[in-house]
Amino acid sequence: MKQFPTHFLWGGAIAANQVEGAYLTDGKGISTSDVMPQGIIGPIIERDLSDKTPYLKDIAIDFYHRYPEDIALFAEMGFKCLRTSIAWSRIFPQGDEAQPNEAGLAFYDRLFDEMAKHGIQPLITLSHYEMPWALVKKYGGWGNRKLITFFEQYARTVFTRYQKKVKLWLTFNEINMSLHEPMTGVGLARNSSKSDIYQAIHHQLVASSRVVKMCREIIPDAQIGNMLLGGLVYPLTCKPDDVLAALQQNQKWLFFGDVQCRGSYPSYMLRYFRENGINLVITEQDRLDLKNTVDFISFSYYMSGCTTADESEYQKQQGNILRMITNPHLPSSEWGWQIDPVGLRVLLNLLWDRYQKPLFIVENGLGAKDKLEADGSIQDDYRIQYLNDHLIQVREAIEDGIEIMGYTSWGAIDLVSASKGEMSKRYGYIYVDQNEQGTGSLERRRKKSFHWYKQLIETNGESLSK
Ligand code: BG6
Repeated sequence: MKQFPTHFLWGGAIAANQVEGAYLTDGKGISTSDVMPQGIIGPIIERDLSDKTPYLKDIAIDFYHRYPEDIALFAEMGFKCLRTSIAWSRIFPQGDEAQPNEAGLAFYDRLFDEMAKHGIQPLITLSHYEMPWALVKKYGGWGNRKLITFFEQYARTVFTRYQKKVKLWLTFNEINMSLHEPMTGVGLARNSSKSDIYQAIHHQLVASSRVVKMCREIIPDAQIGNMLLGGLVYPLTCKPDDVLAALQQNQKWLFFGDVQCRGSYPSYMLRYFRENGINLVITEQDRLDLKNTVDFISFSYYMSGCTTADESEYQKQQGNILRMITNPHLPSSEWGWQIDPVGLRVLLNLLWDRYQKPLFIVENGLGAKDKLEADGSIQDDYRIQYLNDHLIQVREAIEDGIEIMGYTSWGAIDLVSASKGEMSKRYGYIYVDQNEQGTGSLERRRKKSFHWYKQLIETNGESLSK
Protein backbone atom coordinates (compact mmCIF):
# COMPACT_ATOMS: atom_id res chain seq x y z
CA MET A 1 0.00 0.00 0.00
CA LYS A 2 1.25 3.49 -0.87
CA GLN A 3 2.11 5.47 2.23
CA PHE A 4 3.58 8.72 3.51
CA PRO A 5 6.65 8.26 5.71
CA THR A 6 5.90 8.21 9.45
CA HIS A 7 8.07 11.31 10.07
CA PHE A 8 6.37 13.31 7.28
CA LEU A 9 5.96 16.95 8.33
CA TRP A 10 2.31 17.82 7.74
CA GLY A 11 1.40 21.43 8.29
CA GLY A 12 0.64 24.82 6.83
CA ALA A 13 2.43 27.96 5.70
CA ILE A 14 1.95 31.67 6.30
CA ALA A 15 4.23 34.73 6.10
CA ALA A 16 4.77 37.60 8.52
CA ASN A 17 3.76 40.39 6.15
CA GLN A 18 0.51 38.67 5.15
CA VAL A 19 -0.77 37.77 8.61
CA GLU A 20 0.82 39.74 11.42
CA GLY A 21 -0.52 43.26 10.88
CA ALA A 22 0.74 45.45 13.78
CA TYR A 23 2.92 47.06 11.15
CA LEU A 24 4.41 49.69 13.47
CA THR A 25 3.97 47.94 16.81
CA ASP A 26 6.88 47.45 19.22
CA GLY A 27 9.31 49.44 17.14
CA LYS A 28 8.86 47.68 13.79
CA GLY A 29 10.18 49.69 10.83
CA ILE A 30 8.50 50.23 7.46
CA SER A 31 9.18 47.33 5.10
CA THR A 32 9.01 46.97 1.34
CA SER A 33 5.75 45.10 1.88
CA ASP A 34 4.31 48.11 3.76
CA VAL A 35 4.94 50.40 0.80
CA MET A 36 3.08 47.97 -1.48
CA PRO A 37 -0.26 47.85 0.35
CA GLN A 38 -2.05 46.75 -2.81
CA GLY A 39 0.26 43.80 -3.29
CA ILE A 40 3.40 43.05 -5.21
CA ILE A 41 1.86 44.04 -8.52
CA GLY A 42 0.27 47.20 -7.08
CA PRO A 43 1.79 50.70 -6.95
CA ILE A 44 4.57 51.69 -4.57
CA ILE A 45 3.19 54.13 -2.02
CA GLU A 46 5.88 55.91 -0.05
CA ARG A 47 5.07 55.83 3.65
CA ASP A 48 6.73 57.08 6.77
CA LEU A 49 6.00 56.63 10.44
CA SER A 50 3.62 59.62 10.48
CA ASP A 51 1.41 58.14 7.74
CA LYS A 52 -1.74 56.84 9.37
CA THR A 53 -3.65 55.96 6.18
CA PRO A 54 -5.17 52.60 7.05
CA TYR A 55 -4.47 49.73 4.71
CA LEU A 56 -5.67 46.15 5.03
CA LYS A 57 -2.13 44.78 5.32
CA ASP A 58 -1.41 47.03 8.33
CA ILE A 59 -3.92 44.97 10.28
CA ALA A 60 -4.02 41.83 8.13
CA ILE A 61 -5.50 39.09 10.34
CA ASP A 62 -3.81 40.49 13.46
CA PHE A 63 -1.78 37.34 13.98
CA TYR A 64 0.62 39.48 16.00
CA HIS A 65 -1.90 39.55 18.82
CA ARG A 66 -4.04 36.51 18.06
CA TYR A 67 -1.35 33.89 17.44
CA PRO A 68 -2.16 31.80 20.56
CA GLU A 69 -5.69 31.15 19.26
CA ASP A 70 -4.39 30.39 15.75
CA ILE A 71 -1.63 28.06 16.92
CA ALA A 72 -4.21 26.19 19.02
CA LEU A 73 -6.36 25.74 15.90
CA PHE A 74 -3.36 24.49 13.91
CA ALA A 75 -2.64 22.07 16.74
CA GLU A 76 -6.25 20.89 16.69
CA MET A 77 -5.70 19.91 13.02
CA GLY A 78 -2.62 18.00 14.14
CA PHE A 79 0.03 20.20 12.49
CA LYS A 80 3.54 18.85 12.96
CA CYS A 81 5.07 21.93 11.37
CA LEU A 82 4.23 25.57 10.72
CA ARG A 83 6.08 27.59 8.15
CA THR A 84 6.18 31.32 8.80
CA SER A 85 8.73 34.08 8.43
CA ILE A 86 10.43 36.61 10.64
CA ALA A 87 9.79 40.21 9.60
CA TRP A 88 13.33 41.56 9.16
CA SER A 89 12.02 45.07 9.92
CA ARG A 90 10.87 43.97 13.40
CA ILE A 91 14.44 42.94 14.24
CA PHE A 92 16.33 45.70 12.44
CA PRO A 93 13.73 48.42 11.73
CA GLN A 94 16.07 50.37 9.43
CA GLY A 95 18.20 47.38 8.46
CA ASP A 96 21.55 48.99 9.31
CA GLU A 97 21.40 49.52 13.10
CA ALA A 98 24.22 48.24 15.28
CA GLN A 99 21.79 46.63 17.75
CA PRO A 100 18.57 44.68 17.15
CA ASN A 101 15.15 45.72 18.40
CA GLU A 102 14.54 43.67 21.56
CA ALA A 103 10.74 43.98 21.39
CA GLY A 104 10.74 42.41 17.93
CA LEU A 105 12.96 39.55 19.07
CA ALA A 106 10.74 38.98 22.10
CA PHE A 107 7.66 38.60 19.89
CA TYR A 108 9.17 35.66 18.00
CA ASP A 109 10.31 34.11 21.29
CA ARG A 110 6.69 34.12 22.40
CA LEU A 111 5.51 32.75 19.06
CA PHE A 112 8.03 29.88 18.98
CA ASP A 113 7.30 29.05 22.63
CA GLU A 114 3.61 28.82 21.83
CA MET A 115 4.35 26.47 18.93
CA ALA A 116 6.57 24.32 21.14
CA LYS A 117 3.79 24.09 23.71
CA HIS A 118 1.68 22.39 21.03
CA GLY A 119 4.48 20.26 19.60
CA ILE A 120 4.55 22.21 16.32
CA GLN A 121 7.95 22.55 14.71
CA PRO A 122 8.75 25.97 13.19
CA LEU A 123 10.07 26.21 9.64
CA ILE A 124 11.29 29.79 9.35
CA THR A 125 11.93 31.89 6.26
CA LEU A 126 14.43 34.67 6.90
CA SER A 127 12.99 36.95 4.25
CA HIS A 128 9.56 36.42 2.77
CA TYR A 129 8.81 39.21 0.29
CA GLU A 130 9.95 41.99 2.59
CA MET A 131 13.00 43.85 3.84
CA PRO A 132 13.45 47.15 5.69
CA TRP A 133 12.38 49.94 3.31
CA ALA A 134 15.27 52.08 4.53
CA LEU A 135 17.68 49.61 2.90
CA VAL A 136 16.07 50.43 -0.43
CA LYS A 137 15.98 54.18 0.12
CA LYS A 138 19.45 54.55 1.61
CA TYR A 139 21.44 51.84 -0.15
CA GLY A 140 19.50 50.97 -3.32
CA GLY A 141 18.40 47.53 -2.12
CA TRP A 142 20.30 44.39 -3.11
CA GLY A 143 21.98 46.26 -5.93
CA ASN A 144 24.38 47.32 -3.19
CA ARG A 145 26.87 44.73 -1.96
CA LYS A 146 26.52 46.12 1.57
CA LEU A 147 23.16 44.36 1.81
CA ILE A 148 25.06 41.07 2.20
CA THR A 149 26.55 42.35 5.46
CA PHE A 150 23.21 43.68 6.76
CA PHE A 151 21.52 40.40 5.97
CA GLU A 152 24.31 38.45 7.68
CA GLN A 153 23.95 40.58 10.77
CA TYR A 154 20.21 39.94 10.82
CA ALA A 155 20.67 36.19 10.26
CA ARG A 156 23.36 35.94 12.95
CA THR A 157 21.04 37.70 15.39
CA VAL A 158 18.10 35.37 14.83
CA PHE A 159 20.17 32.16 14.53
CA THR A 160 21.82 32.98 17.85
CA ARG A 161 18.62 34.02 19.59
CA TYR A 162 16.46 31.09 18.42
CA GLN A 163 19.10 28.38 18.17
CA LYS A 164 17.31 26.15 20.66
CA LYS A 165 13.84 26.79 19.21
CA VAL A 166 14.19 26.69 15.42
CA LYS A 167 15.91 23.84 13.60
CA LEU A 168 14.48 24.31 10.10
CA TRP A 169 15.34 27.46 8.16
CA LEU A 170 14.87 28.87 4.66
CA THR A 171 16.80 31.82 3.26
CA PHE A 172 14.78 33.84 0.68
CA ASN A 173 11.19 33.14 -0.29
CA GLU A 174 10.77 32.39 -4.01
CA ILE A 175 14.22 33.77 -4.75
CA ASN A 176 13.53 33.59 -8.50
CA MET A 177 10.61 36.07 -8.19
CA SER A 178 13.04 38.97 -8.62
CA LEU A 179 13.11 38.27 -12.33
CA HIS A 180 9.40 39.11 -12.48
CA GLU A 181 9.02 41.61 -9.63
CA PRO A 182 12.41 43.13 -8.71
CA MET A 183 11.13 45.47 -5.98
CA THR A 184 9.69 42.58 -3.97
CA GLY A 185 12.67 40.32 -4.43
CA VAL A 186 15.71 42.60 -4.42
CA GLY A 187 14.40 46.10 -3.72
CA LEU A 188 15.06 47.42 -7.24
CA ALA A 189 12.81 49.64 -9.36
CA ARG A 190 10.57 47.72 -11.71
CA ASN A 191 12.17 49.23 -14.82
CA SER A 192 15.70 48.23 -13.79
CA SER A 193 17.97 46.77 -16.44
CA LYS A 194 18.58 43.02 -16.63
CA SER A 195 22.21 43.68 -15.67
CA ASP A 196 21.21 45.46 -12.48
CA ILE A 197 18.67 42.81 -11.56
CA TYR A 198 21.12 39.93 -12.06
CA GLN A 199 23.81 41.77 -10.09
CA ALA A 200 21.37 42.24 -7.20
CA ILE A 201 20.38 38.57 -7.48
CA HIS A 202 24.05 37.65 -7.34
CA HIS A 203 24.43 39.55 -4.07
CA GLN A 204 21.39 37.75 -2.71
CA LEU A 205 22.73 34.35 -3.78
CA VAL A 206 26.03 35.11 -2.05
CA ALA A 207 24.17 36.25 1.09
CA SER A 208 22.11 33.05 1.01
CA SER A 209 25.21 30.85 0.79
CA ARG A 210 27.00 32.78 3.54
CA VAL A 211 24.12 32.37 5.96
CA VAL A 212 23.88 28.65 5.09
CA LYS A 213 27.44 28.33 6.38
CA MET A 214 26.67 30.54 9.39
CA CYS A 215 23.61 28.48 10.29
CA ARG A 216 25.73 25.30 10.38
CA GLU A 217 28.23 27.00 12.67
CA ILE A 218 25.69 28.46 15.09
CA ILE A 219 23.09 25.63 15.05
CA PRO A 220 24.90 22.42 14.05
CA ASP A 221 21.74 20.31 14.34
CA ALA A 222 19.65 22.60 12.09
CA GLN A 223 18.84 22.13 8.43
CA ILE A 224 18.70 25.06 6.05
CA GLY A 225 17.13 25.15 2.61
CA ASN A 226 16.44 27.46 -0.29
CA MET A 227 12.98 28.35 -1.57
CA LEU A 228 12.05 28.37 -5.25
CA LEU A 229 8.91 29.40 -7.04
CA GLY A 230 8.23 26.18 -8.94
CA GLY A 231 7.40 27.84 -12.24
CA LEU A 232 7.01 24.66 -14.28
CA VAL A 233 6.25 25.19 -17.97
CA TYR A 234 5.45 22.69 -20.70
CA PRO A 235 6.00 23.21 -24.43
CA LEU A 236 2.74 24.38 -26.02
CA THR A 237 3.23 21.90 -28.87
CA CYS A 238 5.68 19.08 -29.65
CA LYS A 239 7.51 21.29 -32.19
CA PRO A 240 11.22 21.08 -31.29
CA ASP A 241 11.41 24.88 -31.09
CA ASP A 242 8.66 24.88 -28.47
CA VAL A 243 10.41 22.10 -26.54
CA LEU A 244 13.60 24.16 -26.56
CA ALA A 245 11.70 27.29 -25.48
CA ALA A 246 10.24 25.36 -22.53
CA LEU A 247 13.65 24.01 -21.56
CA GLN A 248 15.07 27.51 -21.61
CA GLN A 249 12.20 29.05 -19.69
CA ASN A 250 12.56 26.38 -17.01
CA GLN A 251 16.30 27.08 -16.88
CA LYS A 252 15.52 30.72 -16.03
CA TRP A 253 14.20 29.66 -12.62
CA LEU A 254 16.17 26.43 -12.16
CA PHE A 255 19.28 28.58 -12.40
CA PHE A 256 18.68 29.73 -8.82
CA GLY A 257 18.45 26.13 -7.66
CA ASP A 258 21.56 25.25 -9.64
CA VAL A 259 23.60 27.90 -7.85
CA GLN A 260 22.15 27.11 -4.42
CA CYS A 261 22.42 23.32 -4.77
CA ARG A 262 25.49 22.87 -6.96
CA GLY A 263 27.50 25.84 -5.76
CA SER A 264 28.33 27.63 -9.01
CA TYR A 265 26.79 29.35 -12.02
CA PRO A 266 25.57 26.89 -14.68
CA SER A 267 27.09 27.15 -18.16
CA TYR A 268 23.78 28.01 -19.86
CA MET A 269 23.51 31.15 -17.68
CA LEU A 270 27.08 32.18 -18.50
CA ARG A 271 26.11 32.00 -22.16
CA TYR A 272 22.94 34.02 -21.50
CA PHE A 273 24.95 36.70 -19.67
CA ARG A 274 27.57 36.79 -22.45
CA GLU A 275 25.02 37.17 -25.22
CA ASN A 276 23.00 39.79 -23.38
CA GLY A 277 25.84 42.08 -22.38
CA ILE A 278 25.49 41.21 -18.68
CA ASN A 279 28.85 41.50 -16.95
CA LEU A 280 28.45 40.60 -13.31
CA VAL A 281 30.94 41.59 -10.65
CA ILE A 282 31.77 38.25 -9.04
CA THR A 283 34.74 38.14 -6.69
CA GLU A 284 36.92 35.13 -5.89
CA GLN A 285 35.47 35.17 -2.39
CA ASP A 286 31.94 35.09 -3.87
CA ARG A 287 32.83 31.95 -5.80
CA LEU A 288 34.08 30.30 -2.62
CA ASP A 289 31.01 31.40 -0.67
CA LEU A 290 28.62 29.98 -3.26
CA LYS A 291 30.05 26.53 -2.58
CA ASN A 292 28.07 26.44 0.68
CA THR A 293 25.08 24.66 -0.77
CA VAL A 294 21.74 24.07 0.94
CA ASP A 295 20.70 20.96 2.88
CA PHE A 296 17.32 20.68 1.20
CA ILE A 297 15.21 22.32 -1.46
CA SER A 298 11.85 23.85 -0.72
CA PHE A 299 9.46 25.23 -3.27
CA SER A 300 5.98 26.55 -3.95
CA TYR A 301 3.70 25.00 -6.51
CA TYR A 302 0.28 26.30 -7.49
CA MET A 303 0.02 25.82 -11.24
CA SER A 304 1.85 25.02 -14.42
CA GLY A 305 1.76 26.82 -17.75
CA CYS A 306 2.96 26.53 -21.32
CA THR A 307 5.50 28.29 -23.43
CA THR A 308 6.20 28.56 -27.14
CA ALA A 309 8.79 29.91 -29.55
CA ASP A 310 5.98 31.68 -31.41
CA GLU A 311 5.91 35.23 -29.98
CA SER A 312 2.53 35.97 -31.58
CA GLU A 313 0.91 33.47 -29.19
CA TYR A 314 1.78 35.77 -26.28
CA GLN A 315 -0.08 38.68 -27.88
CA LYS A 316 -3.30 36.65 -27.71
CA GLN A 317 -2.92 36.07 -23.97
CA GLN A 318 -3.73 38.29 -21.05
CA GLY A 319 -0.49 39.38 -19.41
CA ASN A 320 0.41 37.54 -16.24
CA ILE A 321 3.35 37.95 -13.93
CA LEU A 322 4.98 34.65 -14.91
CA ARG A 323 4.50 35.02 -18.69
CA MET A 324 2.83 31.68 -19.24
CA ILE A 325 0.56 30.55 -22.08
CA THR A 326 -2.73 28.86 -21.20
CA ASN A 327 -2.72 25.07 -21.36
CA PRO A 328 -5.86 23.98 -23.26
CA HIS A 329 -6.02 20.72 -21.28
CA LEU A 330 -6.29 22.19 -17.79
CA PRO A 331 -8.98 23.95 -15.75
CA SER A 332 -8.26 27.28 -14.08
CA SER A 333 -8.99 28.80 -10.69
CA GLU A 334 -11.10 31.96 -10.35
CA TRP A 335 -7.81 33.87 -10.62
CA GLY A 336 -6.82 32.11 -13.84
CA TRP A 337 -4.18 29.89 -12.22
CA GLN A 338 -4.20 26.57 -14.05
CA ILE A 339 -4.79 23.56 -11.85
CA ASP A 340 -2.39 20.70 -12.57
CA PRO A 341 -1.86 18.09 -9.83
CA VAL A 342 0.21 15.83 -12.11
CA GLY A 343 2.55 18.79 -12.65
CA LEU A 344 3.50 18.54 -8.99
CA ARG A 345 4.73 14.98 -9.50
CA VAL A 346 6.59 16.09 -12.63
CA LEU A 347 8.22 18.91 -10.68
CA LEU A 348 9.19 16.69 -7.75
CA ASN A 349 10.82 14.24 -10.15
CA LEU A 350 12.59 17.01 -12.03
CA LEU A 351 14.07 18.53 -8.85
CA TRP A 352 15.02 15.17 -7.37
CA ASP A 353 16.73 13.98 -10.56
CA ARG A 354 18.60 17.26 -10.88
CA TYR A 355 19.78 17.74 -7.30
CA GLN A 356 19.37 14.52 -5.28
CA LYS A 357 18.59 16.54 -2.18
CA PRO A 358 15.51 16.18 0.03
CA LEU A 359 12.52 18.21 -1.10
CA PHE A 360 9.97 20.11 0.96
CA ILE A 361 6.70 21.38 -0.53
CA VAL A 362 6.27 24.57 1.46
CA GLU A 363 3.42 26.17 -0.50
CA ASN A 364 0.52 24.69 -2.44
CA GLY A 365 -3.15 25.55 -2.28
CA LEU A 366 -6.21 27.05 -3.90
CA GLY A 367 -7.09 30.73 -3.66
CA ALA A 368 -10.88 30.99 -3.91
CA LYS A 369 -13.83 33.12 -2.86
CA ASP A 370 -15.46 31.38 0.09
CA LYS A 371 -19.11 31.76 1.03
CA LEU A 372 -20.16 32.06 4.63
CA GLU A 373 -23.45 30.10 4.82
CA ALA A 374 -26.39 31.24 6.95
CA ASP A 375 -25.51 28.56 9.53
CA GLY A 376 -21.97 29.93 9.77
CA SER A 377 -20.33 27.03 7.89
CA ILE A 378 -18.00 27.26 4.89
CA GLN A 379 -18.43 24.37 2.44
CA ASP A 380 -15.11 24.59 0.58
CA ASP A 381 -15.28 21.28 -1.30
CA TYR A 382 -13.34 22.83 -4.23
CA ARG A 383 -10.37 23.38 -1.91
CA ILE A 384 -10.56 19.84 -0.55
CA GLN A 385 -10.60 18.53 -4.11
CA TYR A 386 -7.56 20.62 -5.10
CA LEU A 387 -5.51 19.58 -2.07
CA ASN A 388 -6.58 15.95 -2.28
CA ASP A 389 -5.59 15.70 -5.95
CA HIS A 390 -2.21 17.30 -5.35
CA LEU A 391 -1.45 15.11 -2.36
CA ILE A 392 -2.25 11.98 -4.35
CA GLN A 393 0.53 13.06 -6.71
CA VAL A 394 2.86 13.69 -3.77
CA ARG A 395 2.20 10.12 -2.64
CA GLU A 396 2.97 8.89 -6.17
CA ALA A 397 6.23 10.84 -6.09
CA ILE A 398 7.14 9.17 -2.81
CA GLU A 399 6.49 5.84 -4.57
CA ASP A 400 8.84 7.08 -7.32
CA GLY A 401 11.49 7.03 -4.60
CA ILE A 402 11.74 10.74 -3.95
CA GLU A 403 12.71 11.93 -0.48
CA ILE A 404 10.07 14.43 0.60
CA MET A 405 10.38 15.99 4.05
CA GLY A 406 6.90 17.42 4.34
CA TYR A 407 4.02 19.44 3.01
CA THR A 408 2.90 22.82 4.34
CA SER A 409 -0.10 24.02 2.36
CA TRP A 410 -0.26 27.75 1.71
CA GLY A 411 -2.39 30.08 3.76
CA ALA A 412 -3.43 27.57 6.43
CA ILE A 413 -5.50 30.42 7.80
CA ASP A 414 -7.03 33.10 5.51
CA LEU A 415 -4.53 35.89 4.93
CA VAL A 416 -3.88 38.87 2.69
CA SER A 417 -2.92 37.77 -0.83
CA ALA A 418 0.56 38.65 -2.01
CA SER A 419 -0.12 39.65 -5.61
CA LYS A 420 -2.94 42.14 -5.09
CA GLY A 421 -3.23 42.59 -1.33
CA GLU A 422 -6.76 41.17 -1.40
CA MET A 423 -8.69 39.44 1.35
CA SER A 424 -11.26 37.83 -0.92
CA LYS A 425 -8.68 35.38 -2.32
CA ARG A 426 -8.75 32.86 0.51
CA TYR A 427 -6.60 29.79 0.98
CA GLY A 428 -7.26 28.78 4.59
CA TYR A 429 -8.68 25.86 6.52
CA ILE A 430 -9.68 28.60 8.95
CA TYR A 431 -11.96 31.41 7.84
CA VAL A 432 -11.16 34.89 9.12
CA ASP A 433 -13.85 37.56 9.23
CA GLN A 434 -11.79 40.26 7.54
CA ASN A 435 -12.61 42.41 4.50
CA GLU A 436 -10.78 44.55 1.94
CA GLN A 437 -11.12 47.65 4.16
CA GLY A 438 -9.61 45.84 7.14
CA THR A 439 -12.70 46.43 9.29
CA GLY A 440 -13.85 42.83 9.92
CA SER A 441 -14.37 41.36 13.39
CA LEU A 442 -11.35 39.02 12.87
CA GLU A 443 -13.35 36.12 14.27
CA ARG A 444 -11.98 32.70 13.24
CA ARG A 445 -14.15 29.79 11.96
CA ARG A 446 -13.32 26.23 10.97
CA LYS A 447 -14.09 25.50 7.31
CA LYS A 448 -15.11 22.06 6.00
CA SER A 449 -11.50 21.64 4.82
CA PHE A 450 -10.33 22.06 8.44
CA HIS A 451 -11.99 18.77 9.38
CA TRP A 452 -10.79 17.12 6.18
CA TYR A 453 -7.15 18.09 6.81
CA LYS A 454 -7.37 17.03 10.44
CA GLN A 455 -8.46 13.54 9.41
CA LEU A 456 -5.80 13.42 6.71
CA ILE A 457 -3.04 14.16 9.22
CA GLU A 458 -4.51 11.74 11.77
CA THR A 459 -4.40 8.93 9.20
CA ASN A 460 -1.03 10.06 7.80
CA GLY A 461 -2.60 10.49 4.37
CA GLU A 462 -4.63 7.29 4.26
CA SER A 463 -7.92 9.18 4.11
CA LEU A 464 -7.05 10.65 0.67
CA SER A 465 -9.69 9.69 -1.85
CA LYS A 466 -8.71 8.60 -5.36
C1 BG6 B 1 3.64 32.70 -3.31
C2 BG6 B 1 4.10 33.54 -2.16
O1 BG6 B 1 4.07 33.30 -4.47
O2 BG6 B 1 2.29 32.61 -3.60
C3 BG6 B 1 3.03 33.83 -1.12
O3 BG6 B 1 5.23 33.01 -1.54
C4 BG6 B 1 1.71 34.11 -1.83
O4 BG6 B 1 3.46 34.89 -0.33
C5 BG6 B 1 1.31 32.87 -2.61
O5 BG6 B 1 0.69 34.52 -0.98
C6 BG6 B 1 -0.02 32.97 -3.32
O6 BG6 B 1 -0.10 34.13 -4.07
P1 BG6 B 1 -1.32 35.12 -3.90
O7 BG6 B 1 -1.05 36.26 -4.77
O8 BG6 B 1 -2.54 34.35 -4.28
O9 BG6 B 1 -1.35 35.49 -2.45
